[in-house]
Amino acid sequence: MTGVRAALCRELGSPEVVAVEEVESPPLGAAQVRVAVQAASVNFPDVLLVAGQYQLKVDPPFVPGSELAGVVTEVAEDVTGLSVGDRVFGTTLVGAFAEEAVLAATSLTRTPDGVDDRTAAGFGVAHRTAYHVLRSVARVQPGDEVIVLGAGGGVGLAAVQLAAVLGASVTAVASSDEKLDVARSLGATRTICHRDADLRAALRETLPGGADVVVDPVGGDLAEPALRSLHWGGRFVTVGYASGVVPKIPLNLVLLKGMAVLGFQFADFAAHCADEMARNEAELLDLLAAGRTTVHLGATFPLDDVVGALRHVGDGRAIGKVILDVAPPAT
Ligand SMILES: NC(=O)c1ccc[n+]([C@@H]2O[C@H](COP(=O)([O-])OP(=O)(O)OC[C@H]3O[C@@H](n4cnc5c(N)ncnc54)[C@H](OP(=O)(O)O)[C@@H]3O)[C@@H](O)[C@H]2O)c1
Repeated sequence: MTGVRAALCRELGSPEVVAVEEVESPPLGAAQVRVAVQAASVNFPDVLLVAGQYQLKVDPPFVPGSELAGVVTEVAEDVTGLSVGDRVFGTTLVGAFAEEAVLAATSLTRTPDGVDDRTAAGFGVAHRTAYHVLRSVARVQPGDEVIVLGAGGGVGLAAVQLAAVLGASVTAVASSDEKLDVARSLGATRTICHRDADLRAALRETLPGGADVVVDPVGGDLAEPALRSLHWGGRFVTVGYASGVVPKIPLNLVLLKGMAVLGFQFADFAAHCADEMARNEAELLDLLAAGRTTVHLGATFPLDDVVGALRHVGDGRAIGKVILDVAPPAT
């Protein structure tokens, strides 16, 4: 068996425990596909998994990395629909920060022509989450006023773009002008830096008529002022708790505004709304192929600097998606 270069986590800890080494090429099982990885996306859960602080535990040694793009080099006999040479992107729990990865065929999608590997690697979860939330949970309509919290993050920035694509007017909320400038360039019509302002007062001034929808991947102290800025009948969607704090909302606020508080969780949506999910993902792929949505590549690192990439994400410096070039990018 030949060796491949991979970022290996031999013990749990800070990003510095990860080192690039030569490892054995992973074996191919039933229903699986081998991919020569070109680019991978670095996400906060990767940092948590390496630290042993993620909701799922993986025992070392393991290769971190959950989103990748590359080229199919081998398919199991029972796989249909994918062939050697196909460009693909997809998601896994671990294994993406390596020259070769083996994934379930069902977790891979063909990369549309004209979409580069870095963009495809960053398209795995954030855009899909944002689109399902906007399209199926919040049911955003043209003309809706949509507030996006964490608007400089992966999910938030995708939600900004995709809400604008759906015809909404978007108010982006983030912690820095740098993040908000990117959000504005991707479709936000109004921006609020929550570090500089009382969010409730700023939202009242910005949206005097109230908002139709809040998309919240952050939680913590931002959730309640954002929820209070909904008008009667508004929809608040809780997507994640990047702040590390699950907010507790007084239910009388929900009663007084006749609002809906909704949740989204990927695995449950896939299990309970498979048809709607398939429709959304086909629409989203069309938007990507047509250039109507894209991935903001906030930073790129070579595989050899995997520690720098994990640090960048772990320290909260990421804007949009952070990419690891596993193979040299095509010029
Ligand atoms: N429900 C689902 O199925 C689903 C799917 C995907 C992701 N998620 C969850 O959604 C959340 C956001 O994911 P993401 O990919 O957008 O993450 P991300 O790219 O890391 O962005 C998170 C944003 O949260 C804000 N934030 C506030 N406090 C933070 C802290 N202590 N550490 C890190 N970020 C902090 C930051 O914005 P500011 O600097 O502007 O405050 C940051 O830009 C995560 O909790 C993730 O697990 C859920």
